[in-house]
Amino acid sequence: MDKYYYITTPIYYPSGKPHMGHAYSSIIADFFARFKRIQGYKVFYLTGTDEHGQKIQRAAEKKGIDPKSFCDEISKTFRNLSKLLNLSNDDFIRTTELRHAKSVENLWNILEDKNEIYLSKYSGWYSVSDEAFYSEDEIQEIDNKKTAKTSGSIVEWIEEESYFFRLSKWQEPLLKFYSENPKFILPESRKNEVISFVKSGLKDLSVSRKSFSWGIKVPSNKDHVIYVWLDALTNYLSALNYPHTNNDLYKNYWPADLHLIGKDILRFHAVYWPAFLLAANIPPPKRVYGHGWILSGEEKMSKSKGNILDPLEIIDNYGLDPLRYYLIKEVSFGNDGNISKDKLENCINSDLANNFGNLCQRVIAFTEKNLNLKIPKEYEFIEDDTRILNLYKSNINNLIDYIDNQNLNNYVNFIQDQLFSANKYFNDQEPWKKKSDLKRLNTIIYVSLELIRKISIMLYPIIPNTSLKVLKIFNIEEKDIDFNSIKSHNILKKNTNINKISILFKKIEKND
Ligand code: MSP
Repeated sequence: MDKYYYITTPIYYPSGKPHMGHAYSSIIADFFARFKRIQGYKVFYLTGTDEHGQKIQRAAEKKGIDPKSFCDEISKTFRNLSKLLNLSNDDFIRTTELRHAKSVENLWNILEDKNEIYLSKYSGWYSVSDEAFYSEDEIQEIDNKKTAKTSGSIVEWIEEESYFFRLSKWQEPLLKFYSENPKFILPESRKNEVISFVKSGLKDLSVSRKSFSWGIKVPSNKDHVIYVWLDALTNYLSALNYPHTNNDLYKNYWPADLHLIGKDILRFHAVYWPAFLLAANIPPPKRVYGHGWILSGEEKMSKSKGNILDPLEIIDNYGLDPLRYYLIKEVSFGNDGNISKDKLENCINSDLANNFGNLCQRVIAFTEKNLNLKIPKEYEFIEDDTRILNLYKSNINNLIDYIDNQNLNNYVNFIQDQLFSANKYFNDQEPWKKKSDLKRLNTIIYVSLELIRKISIMLYPIIPNTSLKVLKIFNIEEKDIDFNSIKSHNILKKNTNINKISILFKKIEKND
C-alpha cells in the first residue's frame, strides 16, 4: 500500500522580492518533504504565490503597471528562488491561474448554497498590509496612527456592502474539532492562543470587498471580489484539482498532512480555514504548524521595516547548504530566531567543515592509503563497533517520531551527537596504529564508512546537495536513499570501490 504525504508552504504575496522569512518557510517545508520521501512516502509539496487583493493592487498602482503584469514579474522571482533554494516542490501555484479561480468559485457556491454566506454591510477596521479585519480591541493608536496590535500595520476604516460567512455558527464545532484533534495546531503554546481566541467569541466574517476589483469575482454578484484570504487558502485544494474530487491527486493527498506557516497567519489557517471547510463539508487539514519569525535585531524581518537579509546574497557568499543547515539548526523551531552572519560563519566552521567535512575527508584519505579506496572485504565487529552502530537502530523510531511531531531540533541534535561520536570513534580507535592487525584496521574503516553513510542519509533533508555528494562515495544515488537503511550495518558491499570527494565546506577566515 502506498503511503502519501501532502505538505504546503504559505503562498507568498508577490508585493516585493522574496526575503529570508519566505526562504525559511520554504526550506523547512522542503526538509519535511525530503524526509518523508526517503522514509518511503509519495510526497506532494506545494508552494506558490498569493496574487489578489488590495495590497497587490496598490503595489502595482504604485509602479504604474497593471496588477497581472506586476504579479507575473514578481511571481517569477519566487519561482526562481525555489530553484535557488533547491526546493523539491511538486507544484507552484499562482492564484491568478484559471484552475484556482474555478476551485474558489466552486467553494464559494457551495457555501452560498448551504446558506453559510449572506449579504450585509461591513463597517470596521481593515489592514491592507495584513489583508485582515480587526476589531476595536485589536487596534491601538500611537502618534495619531491607528495600527493593529499584533502586526503594527496601519488600519483604515472601511464601510461597504459585503458578503459575510457565518463564522459565529462554527465556534462550537471548531472547539470540538480542536479537542478531538489535539495535534491539529502545533506548537502547543500557539494552540492555546487560538483556542482562547475562538472561546472569546467569533463574529461573522466579511468575505467580499466592493471597493476595488483585483480578485476573483463573487459568481452571483460581479460587483464583489472574494476576500483574498478565502481565495488564498483555497490554493491548497486547487493544486489537487479540486473541485474534481474524483482524481488521484485529491483522493491521495487531501486532507493535507501539514500546512507549514508563520505564526502571523495562524488565525487564518487554524480558525477561518477549518471553518470554511467544515461548512462546505470538506475534511479539514490534519495539522497546521505555526513557526516563529526570523528576526533581524529584535524585529520581524519584513519589507515594510526595511531590515531584510537577502537570501541570494547569503547563498552567493556562503553557498546554499550552509544557509539551509544554519536556518534549520540554529533557529529553535517554533520560536523566533535571531540570525546573523557571524553565527552562520561559526556554524559553517564548526559543524559543517570541522565535524562533517573533516570526518569524510579523514576516513576517505585513510581508506585510500590503506585499502586503495576499497570497502574492506573482511571485518568483524567488536563491542565498540556494535555500540555505536546500534545507536541508529535503537533511535530510528524516535527520529521518525520527531519529524512527525515537527520536533526538528531533536532530530538535528541527534545528528550532531552522532557526528561527534563518529569523530570520537575514529580518534579513539586509532586505526593508524593497527597496521599489524589488519582485520581490526579493516573493521574500523568499515564502521567509519557505515557511519558516514548513515549520517549523510540523515543529513539529506537538510543539506541535500552535500549529502548526495558524500553518498556518491558509495555510488548511492538520490532515488536509492532509504531512511530505513540507517538501522542496517552491512549495507556497504565488501571489496567494492569507493569514490573520492572534493572538500565539502571551506572554512571561513575570521578576524577575531
Ligand atoms: N499570502 C499570505 C499567505 C497566504 S497562505 C494561504 C502571506 N504572505 S507573506 O508573503 O506575507 O508571508 C508568508 C509567510 O512567509 C509567513 O507566514 C511566514 O511563513 C513567512 N515569513 C514572512 N516573513 C517572515 C519572517 N520574518 N520570519 C519567518 N517567516 C516569515 O502572509
